[in-house]
Amino acid sequence: MVILGEQFPNFTAKTTIGDISFHEWLGDAWGILFSHPADFTPVCTTELARLVKLIPEFTKRNTKIIALSCDSVDSHLKWTNDIIAYSGYPNSVFPYPIIADEDRTLTIELGMIDSNEKDSHGIPLAARSVFIIDSNKTLRLSILYPATTGRNFDEILRVLDSLQLCDKHKVATPADWVPGDDVMIQPSVPDDEAKNIFPNVNVITFPSGKQYLRKTNVQN
Ligand code: BEZ
Repeated sequence: MVILGEQFPNFTAKTTIGDISFHEWLGDAWGILFSHPADFTPVCTTELARLVKLIPEFTKRNTKIIALSCDSVDSHLKWTNDIIAYSGYPNSVFPYPIIADEDRTLTIELGMIDSNEKDSHGIPLAARSVFIIDSNKTLRLSILYPATTGRNFDEILRVLDSLQLCDKHKVATPADWVPGDDVMIQPSVPDDEAKNIFPNVNVITFPSGKQYLRKTNVQN
């Protein structure tokens, strides 16, 4: 298993752009590694097509995308034509690599197995997992979705925005935050320091008498 806050493991893998060494491929970018159960399936097609359309948004955030399933490179390459057609992407070159983890080495090592989903030989497939890895190769987010629920990639972008903002300022983002909304000063920042760094702080006093919710606004 990979643990939040620890270094994401390096690995070599077969992909649609040839063999890669993961850390080298990432370089100094952030990365999103996401897996899907199987090629040529409906939900997966909508997900990979959505990411094709979102690539410019991830590029703006210095973030590379890589997909993974237990299908072969040959299967991935054939399927990408369908994904491109479905997405309406104007370019015939698929814009991110897909890992072929046919022997499940990575799927098992990274804790991505979904034992509800099996191939025609009864061997489990990859779940819909998402990892966000920062530019220091640290794991910053890990989520697992069931096979029948397509992911909300606006939410993945929102978390990425939150992580990058909170790395820059000593803030945290509230429930349902979207970029531009107020943020909150991290509990570790003492009040006197908070007033210096964030002159427009709005402190809420709770029935407990405690003042731990300190709202402010920062620009990314
Ligand atoms: C799909 O992508 O549509 C799918 C894949 C595996 C199980 C259920 C749905």
